[in-house]
Amino acid sequence: MKKLTFFGLSSVLAISLLTGCGGGGQEAEQPAAEGAPKQKLIMATSADYPPYEFHDTSSGKDQIVGFDIDIANYIANELGFEYEIKDMDFSGLIPSLQSGRADFVMAGMTPKPDRLENADFSIVYFEAQNTIVSKKDNNLNTLEDLKGKKVGVQLGSIQEGEAKEIEGVEVVSLNKIAEIVQEIKSNRIDAAIIEDTVAKGYVTANPELQFVTIPNNGPAGSAVAFPKGSANVEEFNRVIKQMQENGEMEKLVKKWFEQ
Ligand code: ARG
Repeated sequence: MKKLTFFGLSSVLAISLLTGCGGGGQEAEQPAAEGAPKQKLIMATSADYPPYEFHDTSSGKDQIVGFDIDIANYIANELGFEYEIKDMDFSGLIPSLQSGRADFVMAGMTPKPDRLENADFSIVYFEAQNTIVSKKDNNLNTLEDLKGKKVGVQLGSIQEGEAKEIEGVEVVSLNKIAEIVQEIKSNRIDAAIIEDTVAKGYVTANPELQFVTIPNNGPAGSAVAFPKGSANVEEFNRVIKQMQENGEMEKLVKKWFEQ
């Protein structure tokens, strides 16, 4: 399929985007693209990952919201594109980039070495730490405690890779984080490896559960993923850096992770 870039529109817009980025303010840098047709990109995600991305039905309609969505909105606004969200299983995200069904992925996705062979990544915009989630009364507090246990992880995630490295663990890979939590609650698995900010939300909602932070044994941060060779990486990086410098990223971290 065709490779979309923002700059399919006109080189004039491209130049105004590229040169309009010097200052520190944000809204002031809206590209001078008034009247120009906006390009629509497809963002793929796996909206089972609060507070990064999840379905919010509190307003009566089903909306995907979260930290990643706020970042995507900011980037879209800065670069002057519209986008549509496609929700799918986490394991389908990289394939969606490879087959041209999506232009970028935001899903709390970690740029780990084997993914770099199949996708390009932005700079990391948030760092996380893995945890063991289990029932409080199971007393599973260290990686050693997981020996001989059934441990749930999301299919295709870095957590799946980590669980497979622990000797003597029976790894149970499932598509959605909510399913994994459900399996712990109903004692079909003993524990799960889930990253801290996500674990925190599920544990707060399920007081019989606990989470214990474990050391990372590889990269664990989040970045935007693109099809290999995408022309959009650089522009996304520019806006992410801008957000890190102008306090916008910190504001969103506070909004979604520190409540
Ligand atoms: N950071 C982990 C990874 O990249 C897990 C991400 C899961 N994201 C999701 N939206 N379910 O493998």
